[in-house]
Amino acid sequence: MSEAILTTKALRKQFGNLEAVKDVSFSVLRGEIFSLLGPNGAGKTTTISMLSCLLTPTSGTAEIGGYDIIQESQRVRTLIGIVPQEIALYDELTARQNLRFWGEMYNLSGKALKARVEEVLEQVNLRDRANERVGTFSGGMKRRINIAAGLLHKPLLLFMDEPTVGIDPQSRRRILDMVKELRSQGMTVLYTTHYMEEAEELSDRVGIIDHGTLIAVGTQAELTKMVGQQETLRLHLGEGFIGEEVAHLFSGLPGVLAVTPLNSELTLSVRQAEEALPGAMIQASQAGVPVRTIDIEEPNLEAVFLHLTGRALRD
Ligand SMILES: Nc1ncnc2c1ncn2[C@@H]1O[C@H](COP(=O)(O)OP(=O)(O)OP(=O)(O)O)[C@@H](O)[C@H]1O
Ligand SMILES: [Mg+2]
Repeated sequence: MSEAILTTKALRKQFGNLEAVKDVSFSVLRGEIFSLLGPNGAGKTTTISMLSCLLTPTSGTAEIGGYDIIQESQRVRTLIGIVPQEIALYDELTARQNLRFWGEMYNLSGKALKARVEEVLEQVNLRDRANERVGTFSGGMKRRINIAAGLLHKPLLLFMDEPTVGIDPQSRRRILDMVKELRSQGMTVLYTTHYMEEAEELSDRVGIIDHGTLIAVGTQAELTKMVGQQETLRLHLGEGFIGEEVAHLFSGLPGVLAVTPLNSELTLSVRQAEEALPGAMIQASQAGVPVRTIDIEEPNLEAVFLHLTGRALRD
């Protein structure tokens, strides 16, 4: 079993009457990308702010690298890199000057600082733009410099708070690839997002957070199992065939839980695609019902969120 780099213990934050984070407990293991997935206002930034010693918990605590975030915050600060949700750069300075500034904040200086600035510029692929003022950069480029700043002091653990919000698809792609590249270099990442697709692509494990409560934690396979039964087989029937007229042929087949016709499609809710597919194909063939294509849809994190909260993540 992997070692935990971060362990939170009933972490809680109250703002007036609002409990923004409610007794949240989870661990992040060395070398993994752990995503906190939740809608706007779920408590992601508040959690990250407590873990990065910017906000004092109302109760509970956490350990990072074995150090307590409250009692040993100075030590903890040296272990973590922060990529905040709000970009923290000086528009009038160049990219390189911004990074030198942040490096000094992390107590780097002299040759070590100079070398490190060049390394992180290389990592985010912006060395050729390093002498330009950040004010002239696109949102995506600013994000990448923001990430570079978080990497300067070679943190053990990197916090990334919704680093792809509000940028173009190409920049988003670059950032997601960069996060995976960081993992392959041995970095541990705590990543927050409200995009299911990002959590699915990046995460080794996911924590789903809603209204300040961590409602589920696990690998994607573990989480989707919670939804239970359902995978979906969607049969697109040949021309002239109406789903409604042939639906009865497919109900009651092994592993088929329900059949829902819609126009020229049949949606079979099944326990497992592998179990139900052969029977469905044989039945279609014997009954002379042509099937043009079949989509197999596995339950995803969206379905898990819906299952647990009764609401869609996108709402
Ligand atoms: N300083 C503060 N004072 C009062 N309320 C706050 C403060 N910071 C956050 N909140 C409230 O706490 C809740 C959680 O906010 P938080 O910023 O942690 O959510 P989030 O999951 O990061 O959302 P988003 O996806 O929009 O960034 C929200 O209801 C927010 O309005
Ligand atoms: Mg936030």
